[in-house]
Amino acid sequence: MSDGYLRQLSIDGLGPTPDLGNSGRRSYTLEQINELRRYLATARPKEAARFFPQRRSGEKLQVITVANFKGGSAKTTTSVYLAQGLALQGYRVLAIDLDPQASLSAMFGYQPEFDVAENTTLYGAIRYDEERVLMKDVVRPTYFTGISIVPGNLELMEFEHQTPRFMLQNRGKAEDLFFRRVAGAIAQVEDDFDVVVVDCPPQLGFLTMGALNAATGMIVTVHPQMVDVASMSQFLLMTSDLVSVIEEAGGRLDYDFLRFLVTRHDPRDVPEQEIVGLMRDVFGADVMSATAWKSTAIANAGLTKQSLYELTRGAVGRSTYDRAMESINAVNEEVVGLLNQVWQR
Ligand SMILES: Nc1ncnc2c1ncn2[C@@H]1O[C@H](COP(=O)(O)OP(=O)(O)OP(=O)(O)O)[C@@H](O)[C@H]1O
Ligand SMILES: [Mg+2]
Repeated sequence: MSDGYLRQLSIDGLGPTPDLGNSGRRSYTLEQINELRRYLATARPKEAARFFPQRRSGEKLQVITVANFKGGSAKTTTSVYLAQGLALQGYRVLAIDLDPQASLSAMFGYQPEFDVAENTTLYGAIRYDEERVLMKDVVRPTYFTGISIVPGNLELMEFEHQTPRFMLQNRGKAEDLFFRRVAGAIAQVEDDFDVVVVDCPPQLGFLTMGALNAATGMIVTVHPQMVDVASMSQFLLMTSDLVSVIEEAGGRLDYDFLRFLVTRHDPRDVPEQEIVGLMRDVFGADVMSATAWKSTAIANAGLTKQSLYELTRGAVGRSTYDRAMESINAVNEEVVGLLNQVWQR
């Protein structure tokens, strides 16, 4: 909408009432913007879809799993920026922290050792014993409008320990297979969300396998340095082995999309250019066109558990901010494009 149209709406007292600054500048919270979206969707029903991106009946929940067992390939950073980018567009997002180190939870203000009590991680909802709780009991709100989270902490490791034990005791009982548990838990809260973003630990353990099974779309983050690419190829080989095991056991693994995302990318670095070129030759359109550029602003914001979406340009420096946001927004837009394709919009 044009600024003028929004100003007129607010003068006419329609839609939410924004904060009026000294200079007469109107500012809306994200909650108000969502209210405005709902208002416009009702006021102009023919264009409702343009204002209101949430999924409609017949459109399935999308579960995007961000994975790679290479540590530091920016899985968590990608998950945070994607969750926030989607929430800013008006989607209802559930972020799931599958990493016992719980950096995603920390980014959303939950310190794994202080704020996350026993049985309040995803483990609580997928454990094998009678202590199991409902998924809705481990989903909690975040300070970021539109994003809920299932936080993580060290108790997630229990799943890695308990699964082999459980499998020994229950040989051949397919209905209770470990890799279906993550998907089963997500299905319980399906109606409350449009997109689920799962941040995986840097290992290919039982939790990651559960996330691979629950995923409708996969993003494999790759920092374009030769060792990382080598480790990614290792990741793919191991994944394909595991996938065969899951499929033989009757597991579902039909992704709507699987994309490689180049992260922490320095486009001026010649060896990096060559590696990205090589990836594009080998994987073609499976490598996202947008890349997440390396930015000291992103790294610095991360130190204080913030994203650039949460900071002002002034706090960072205009050109640094704009450059980083341009690349982040391009990545998120490309993902939204994939979601729309799946929803056949
Ligand atoms: N685009 C970027 N520019 C600069 N620094 C970045 C960028 N993306 C991520 N980083 C930094 O790189 C480091 C690793 O990122 P992140 O924690 O997201 O990786 P990860 O794959 O989740 O790691 P782990 O395997 O430990 O879970 C962090 O310090 C983060 O701030
Ligand atoms: Mg991480």
